Amino acid sequence: MALHEPTVFITRHIPEEALRIIRSAADVRVWPEELPPSPEELRRECEGVDGLYCMLTDRIDGALLDATPRLKVISTMSVGYDHIDVSACRERGILLGHTPGVLDETTADLAFALILASGRRIAEADRFVRAGKWETWSPMFMTGQEVHGATLGIVGIGRIGQAVARRARGFGMRLLYHSRSPKPESEGLGAEYRSMDDLLRESDFVSLHVPLTEETRGLIGARELAVMKPTAHLINTARGPVVDQRALSDALARGQIAGAGIDVFEMEPVSIEEPLLALENVTVLPHIGSATVATRTKMARMAADNLVAGLQGKPMPHPI
Ligand code: DGY
Repeated sequence: MALHEPTVFITRHIPEEALRIIRSAADVRVWPEELPPSPEELRRECEGVDGLYCMLTDRIDGALLDATPRLKVISTMSVGYDHIDVSACRERGILLGHTPGVLDETTADLAFALILASGRRIAEADRFVRAGKWETWSPMFMTGQEVHGATLGIVGIGRIGQAVARRARGFGMRLLYHSRSPKPESEGLGAEYRSMDDLLRESDFVSLHVPLTEETRGLIGARELAVMKPTAHLINTARGPVVDQRALSDALARGQIAGAGIDVFEMEPVSIEEPLLALENVTVLPHIGSATVATRTKMARMAADNLVAGLQGKPMPHPI
């Protein structure tokens, strides 16, 4: 590919071992700040570089690519790539890589943590104790929804959805799933296929595991929430815009559903003014589905391998 030593811009500090991989093949500049570069800063930094190592916080669109004609390889340290205009990259012959597989179990752990947290009111109870409100034990105090034996509806039965299903079996849960078409292999996990409405109607917990696409944007809105049981919980570790956030806070405030566990938001970071944050029956997390040291390190390395392969004109191990 490039006859000169390729140049690379990395939009955030990454683990040293991933940085070493890239440094062995390119001249590297790392964005020095804690917060991501603004679109203008990103454009400026990408002028004249051959490769970009980015995060899901960086918007990669046609305008950026038009301003950075030398850019030939983009590697995102994420499995999701809804922040990248893939067709704009394809039109310009830019190679794209991402990090599938390595974060499935870790994200499933967090989805399950939210199922337990929402069902058993863990965050609410923690706030209660810290606020000095705990006065006594009483029969129906802080009672929640049982997780063992409950019905879990998994929307999207890809790798992460299946990993959640395996955990749920250990809790003796009844498993339903919905995907664009029935997936016979999921029956091996003991999960039964349902239409979206039947899944919403029958589930005690609904956990979302679909990528964000035009098809899944707003998948859960006021109509879908109205179909759910008043005792049910919605868990979202996928992408914020899959759920209509306003409809969700209305449904939770009215007691139309019992609770929600949310790791992802329509806009991230979520505003402190967001009505969801004022509700006791919502557990909120700052997009940490894959946030373990081991998994983030694997993702960083995988993204580095993709980038270097692309720069060297070799097939990327994990292309988009
Ligand atoms: C991803 O990789 O897409 C997750 O949302 C963050 O790990």
